[in-house]
Amino acid sequence: MLALLFSVVLLGAAANATRLLDNNLAYRSPFKNDATLAHDTSAIQARSLVRRQVEDATKFDDQHYPTFYGADFGNSPFIWSGGLNFTHSVASGDPFDTSVLLWTRAVPISPSGSSQLPDQSVPVCVFWKITASPELKGSAVSSGQAFTSYDVDFTVKVEATHLKPDSLYYFQFGDCSNPDTVSPIGKTRTLPHPDTAADQVNNGNPLTFAVFSCSQYQAGK
Ligand SMILES: *[C@@H]1O[C@H](CO)[C@@H](O)[C@H](O)[C@H]1NC(C)=O
Repeated sequence: MLALLFSVVLLGAAANATRLLDNNLAYRSPFKNDATLAHDTSAIQARSLVRRQVEDATKFDDQHYPTFYGADFGNSPFIWSGGLNFTHSVASGDPFDTSVLLWTRAVPISPSGSSQLPDQSVPVCVFWKITASPELKGSAVSSGQAFTSYDVDFTVKVEATHLKPDSLYYFQFGDCSNPDTVSPIGKTRTLPHPDTAADQVNNGNPLTFAVFSCSQYQAGK
């Protein structure tokens, strides 16, 4: 009984340890029936931990990492804190009536004036939020945090949920460790509820669709 309880607790801890990696849908296989294209987030998490353990901890104030799974990563050696560049702005797609996928790319940058490559062995953490206000004013309708890494070319793909059907939304990503560093604001919209009469969609105004696709099956993209 105790052993069972222990393994349940361990499983719980293990699931939690990859939560921020798993929040990034870019690690998942794009095909439900082909798991081989998914990234092993447990292995990526373990890689970061190994890296942490060989670091000299004395130079960090925060010896016990209480904030690692919290909201404040400012002092965490587990994540990249040397600056990010949202090199490819933002994108969104695959809308449903109450959700939409949000995308960006958050690349670690070298210290200014340095030709040194940034340390890529720790994950990059981004936060995101989506609101109905073009200036992102007021509280977010949906928000979260996710990790990315070189495994997925520093791309981030998250699902914003709890949205209203047939509605416009605005979203933005930012750097967890330097919250002043933010991406451009993206504009997106949800689909109408499936029962909406065709002449009621988009308040009866015309609606234009653009379809874009880019895939490389063997690379899982
Ligand atoms: C950020 O990325 C853009 C696009 O690749 C590039 O032009 C710019 O120089 C980069 N900025 C920094 C600070 O690395």
